[in-house]
Parts: sequence; structure tokens; C-alpha cells
Amino acid sequence: MKLLIRNGNLIDPTGEVSGIQDILVEDGVIVKLFPQLEDPDAEIIDGEGLCVCPGLVDPHVHLRDPGFTDKEDICTGTAAAAHGGFTTIACMPNTKPVADTPEILQYILEQAKCGSGVRVYPIGAVSVGEQGTVCTNFAALKEAGAVALSDDGVPIMNAALMREALQKANCCGLPLLCHEEDRELVQNFGVNEGKISRQLGIPGRPAIAEELMVARDGMLSLETGVPVHFCHISTAGSVAIIRALKQAGAAVTCETCPQYFTLTEEAVLEQGSLARVNPPLRTKRDVAAILEGLRDGTIDCIATDHAPHTAEEKARTLTEAPSGMVGLETALGIALTELYHSGVLELTEVIRKMTSDPARVLGLKSGQIAIGEAADLTLFDLNEKWVIDPTKFCSKGRNTPFADRSVRGKVKYTIVSGRIVYRCTP
Ligand code: DOR
Ligand code: ZN
Ligand code: ZN
Repeated sequence: MKLLIRNGNLIDPTGEVSGIQDILVEDGVIVKLFPQLEDPDAEIIDGEGLCVCPGLVDPHVHLRDPGFTDKEDICTGTAAAAHGGFTTIACMPNTKPVADTPEILQYILEQAKCGSGVRVYPIGAVSVGEQGTVCTNFAALKEAGAVALSDDGVPIMNAALMREALQKANCCGLPLLCHEEDRELVQNFGVNEGKISRQLGIPGRPAIAEELMVARDGMLSLETGVPVHFCHISTAGSVAIIRALKQAGAAVTCETCPQYFTLTEEAVLEQGSLARVNPPLRTKRDVAAILEGLRDGTIDCIATDHAPHTAEEKARTLTEAPSGMVGLETALGIALTELYHSGVLELTEVIRKMTSDPARVLGLKSGQIAIGEAADLTLFDLNEKWVIDPTKFCSKGRNTPFADRSVRGKVKYTIVSGRIVYRCTP
């Protein structure tokens, strides 16, 4: 089985090869990278006018299986990933039951085999049942295929448990991915504490709830020397703290999501529960700081926090609906529009934050285009304009605040190990 991708514009943040190149793939592996290759036996993809980057890597996805397959399952979630240009995704353990044992991880990996072909790496829970009291068996979870540990959705309030988890995670080389919000400071309403929460007369989630936890876990990372990755950073204060932590030599990394560099708390007024997410959408000042953090390298990764919910759940009122939004099928278009086309980041930097940097956080080899490595590739038209239409999503979740938004940059092919897992049809 051979595949020849012709005349694509290679964008590889880690590689030495760039510009117009041909890529020859044999048995799933890149064997040649050179202009104007020929191979009579190969299937040809015409990459003329397209960018070719390493397959996108999303370190933060909720696949909902087991337990919540009315929201998403591994087939639809991985199809959504392929549609969005992602070849590798890591899935969060807040399923039912929680992914806190090797058996659940095995189930997820088994289900992933019948998915779209996108690589699925499970994230194991830090604490049993995400209850925040007893650490899971990290070594056993790693053995079963976990690439990281997280209690995402439920912040770890107990600093002693967090400290113990850091020490244990280091022993088996698993990164800890932290959802940072002090639970005592956040009411259950997915809206920023500020102008809009006051206008609506509901309690909000203050920025300080996130910042205190970022500071605490940053200090624990400094103390222990063990890496910490902060999930979905949303506030100016978090960016400033992480910048300072990095300057102090802490082994910290972080991600943000498209919603945090595009939308503000005002979106709740127009979009209601579709704009409800934890941590919440913040202020203009926070968005500006997130953009600056992306620009100066404080923010390493762009993740989606793809969090599908059913139409019925999201039709509930703002105070009754669950938090979260889908993101796999809109992330690249939004990132290219808001970061590259608007002049915030070079194209290579946008791609780095969606490929090699998340791969590095997860300790994966993905996120590069190199001879001898698996041909995980995403081909996209950098300039094609399209309008986000949730009815076209492969995800079961249609819960996005980005419906009807015009974006520039469209996925054309998603390739995993030389196999086309998504092809855009006109
Ligand atoms: O908004 C959110 N939704 N934040 C989380 O941390 C969890 C996620 C979910 O699982 O729905
Ligand atoms: Zn979270
Ligand atoms: Zn999440």
C-alpha cells in the first residue's frame, strides 16, 4: 500500500523540511520527502494549493464512553476528530464508570478499534471515582495504556492528595493534567463572576478560583520538580502566573481552547447555555491576555475540551444545562482565522500548538513529519472560507456557540498511518 501526496506545502514545526514537497508513504510510514517524486504503484493525492502538517493532536477530549453514549460514543467522537483534522486524541476519564481501572481503559481502547481510525489515548483518573480522596493505581493504569492522569471536570481540592499524586505520577512518568478551579469558590453555573452574572442575577465562577489553583499546583510542581499541565487556561491572571512559574524554572505547561481566545462572557446573553462552560468565558481583558500568552509562548497548546451534550440537555435554562461545548470540528478553522489570519501567530506556531507541543506534553511521538515515522498527516486549505454548520458535524453533540460563524481554513484530508480517515467531498 503506497500513497503519494504531491505538491503540498509542508508545515512542520519540528522538522527540517518545509515548503513544496512530495511525501511518499509505504505501509503507513513516510519513506521519502522530496520535490517531484514518482511512483507508478502509489495512490496519488493532489496537494497542490494545500498545506500539509503533522496530524493534529488534541490532548483534551471527552468521548463519553462508557456511560454517556447518548452524548457521544467512541465511533462518533473519533469521526468528529477525523473531520476536524485530528489524528490523535486523548480522552478524559469522567465517564460512567470513571476511567480509574485498567479494565475501563481496555474497554476504551477496544472500542477505539472500531472507530474512524484516529488514535485514541485514554487518560486515567487521578483519584478513585474522581472523588478526590484516594489515588488510583497509576502504574496499573499506565500498563493498561494511560498516557496521562486527570480528574478533569472535578478539581482536586486536597493539596495533600495533589502532592502525593505528583510524586506517584513522576515515578511512572505520567503527566498530570489539571482542571483548575477552587470548588469552594465556584457555584455550579458556568458563567464568569462579573458584569453578566450580576446582570442575570446568578452566582458566577470568579477568575480567582482558577488562579488560586494554578498558583497552588504551580508551587507544588516547583517544590516536587514534577511536571504539571494546566488544562483550559482562561484568565489573564493564570497567564501571568504561568509565565512567572516558567521563568522560575517550573516544569509547567498549559493549554487554552478556541472559546477562550475568541469569546467573552457576553456570549452567554446571546447563546444562553451553549456558551456555558467550565471554566467560563471571561472578559475582553482576559481574551487579550490569552492571545498574548499564545504569542509569547506562555501557552503551549491549543486543545478543544470537546464536551458533547445532548440537544435536550443544552435546551435547558442556563442554570440547569450542563457545562461544555464541542470543539473537534471547529478548532482548526477558528484557530487559523483568529490566530493566523488575524496576524497573532505565524502559521507554524499555530500548527505547533496543535501538533508537536501537545504530543510532547503527552509523551507521544506524534506531531512530526519525518522519514521512518508514521504518516499521520492533515491537509488543509489555508484560505477557504466556510460557515460553521453544526448539522454537518459527525459528533453527536451539536452544542457549539460558533454556529453560523464564518471561518477561513478548511480540512481536506486526515490521514492516519497512511490511511485516509477523512476526505472532504465538495
Ligand atoms: O465545561 C466543562 N465540561 N468543563 C469540564 O471540565 C468538564 C466538561 C464535561 O465533561 O462536560
Ligand atoms: Zn476541565
Ligand atoms: Zn474537559
